[in-house]
Amino acid sequence: MKQSMIINGKAHEITVDGDMPLLWFLRDNLEFTGTKFGCGSGLCGACTVHVDGQAIRSCITPVSTLVDKKITTIEGLSEKGDHPLQKAWLNNNVPQCGYCQAGQIMNAASLLAVNAAPTEAEIDTAMQGNICRCGTYQRIKKAIVEAAD
Ligand code: FES
Repeated sequence: MKQSMIINGKAHEITVDGDMPLLWFLRDNLEFTGTKFGCGSGLCGACTVHVDGQAIRSCITPVSTLVDKKITTIEGLSEKGDHPLQKAWLNNNVPQCGYCQAGQIMNAASLLAVNAAPTEAEIDTAMQGNICRCGTYQRIKKAIVEAAD
């Protein structure tokens, strides 16, 4: 099928199998490989991107549901990697292996977009679906608090 989408600010007219999950379209067709495959079942958050500003799981989102939608990946979150969250991530040396971190940042960015000063409890609630096998949760929370300041 043919459809249009705006990805990281650029319009795309695409011909693709509509059942294809957005994750694979981003990674394989557009080489936006910052978005990661973890579980493939909507359970871990590694594949989180924004659709019209809302965090979604790209591994379970068929491309056909995204006609004319605005999609933002970690590559499009900021011009130069200088989103307040990205700076706070660096300041706090958040990543260990790093695999889940793009999804963590994208989920946190959608939180801060609607709640500029979340409490720690609100951060915990918003971030609970993003799994980190290295257990960097305390640093993630610290960085989100710092970015929200
Ligand atoms: Fe999409 Fe785990 S890879 S939620």
